[in-house]
Amino acid sequence: MDKLLIRGRERLSGTIPISGSKNAVLPMMAASLLTRGLTTIRNVPDLVDVHTMSNVLRIIGAKVVFEDNVLQIDTETFNYPEAPYDLVRKMRATYYVLAPLLAHMKKAKVSLPGGCVIGPRPVDQHIKALEALGARIRLEKGYIIADAEELHGCEIFFDLVSVGATAQAMMAATLAKGDTILENVAKEPEVVALAQFLSSMGAKIKGAGSDIIEIKGVEQLQPTDFTNIPDRIETGTYMAAAVITGSRLTLEGADQKNIKTIIRKMREVGATVKTVKNGIEVAGPSVIKPTDIHTHPFPAFPTDMQAQMMAILSVADGRSVITEGIYPERFSHAPELCRLGAQIVIEDNKALVTGVHKLEGASVMASDLRASAALVLAGLVADGETEILRVYHIDRGYEKIEEKLAAVGAQMKRIKEGDDET
Ligand code: EPZ
Repeated sequence: MDKLLIRGRERLSGTIPISGSKNAVLPMMAASLLTRGLTTIRNVPDLVDVHTMSNVLRIIGAKVVFEDNVLQIDTETFNYPEAPYDLVRKMRATYYVLAPLLAHMKKAKVSLPGGCVIGPRPVDQHIKALEALGARIRLEKGYIIADAEELHGCEIFFDLVSVGATAQAMMAATLAKGDTILENVAKEPEVVALAQFLSSMGAKIKGAGSDIIEIKGVEQLQPTDFTNIPDRIETGTYMAAAVITGSRLTLEGADQKNIKTIIRKMREVGATVKTVKNGIEVAGPSVIKPTDIHTHPFPAFPTDMQAQMMAILSVADGRSVITEGIYPERFSHAPELCRLGAQIVIEDNKALVTGVHKLEGASVMASDLRASAALVLAGLVADGETEILRVYHIDRGYEKIEEKLAAVGAQMKRIKEGDDET
């Protein structure tokens, strides 16, 4: 397994290009199954998760070509409505094919994404929405098996705000007979982008980004040529790099309207952030101020930036409290940050962070995607060398991270498995 070596305490400067959004493009890729023909998606990040989703589409029978950040998905001949366990277990988001296959092929067989319907990372809200639209769903040997002669419009009130369930319901409703009202929906920019993608295919959707989404079912959708939005979490991660190293960075292609809460928090810890012609410019403070973080659905502070904020607050001048409101156990980065000298105590869904003057480089283990990003950020500011193991986690969601950071002055390199470290 590859690892990253980082020599800390380097000041950064320059421009980092922001890639397309991972969490926007994955549902768009699934949505291409709602029609037959050639769909093109531009500004697609070159990520492991994108290749995993591409492989699922290939198994279903679509032809997928990815070149120069452009995806071409030909669904003319797809015919196998199934997403197998060995791919779904690699990436939960492959379950997104459930709704399009059901809506277009009238049947689907998709592996549960690890755990069970209401277990860790549950899908009960997805099931509730699809059953309300008329699907018959049964669970068999770890698979969700769904069929529906016809989907019909209805009113759905989600018990809790779920990005995935909102996306699935929206996709299924586009081809249902009649009108569908979705309430208590996710308002994330990635949901808005999916609605725009579906509308470009001929869907009739309004209200995405608000509390109520209305969808008028249509007979058929057409393939589209669509440009993906920039990745707001990648943007936030590189903002955090500027803050934690006290550097000035320009993030090219960043869309400041989707990161208002992240900008607010970076300013609270002392950064200056301004909109420039082709993105945003972030200047980190000489002393990082402590602050408190509460993660909740958009437009609140995103859970996908929680680990990155914990790295920043580990070297702030005072105590901070991080409350995780989405995934209460999402703290696997805390013990690894403590190996670098951070002082963090976890109590239920809260992390009490006491800032320290400096971190010491060490060997640490990447775990989930965003926890890995937090370790890279800590490595940038730690004294000496930090070795991050299991970086395949980071390759799932960050395109060319070591090239992007090395290009602005970070002392960072990847050691491929089997290479020696000289
Ligand atoms: C999306 O996951 C993102 N993934 C996640 O980003 C992100 O953390 C999450 O939304 C929250 O913003 C993609 O977009 C591919 P949810 P999703 O359904 O849709 C509970 C990253 O780092 N829930 O909004 O799976 C669930 O357990 C990834 O890029 C149910 O109880 O998240 C969680 O506590 C990690 N029942 C909460 O809702 C359900 O049926 C929010 O989950 C569905 C969800």
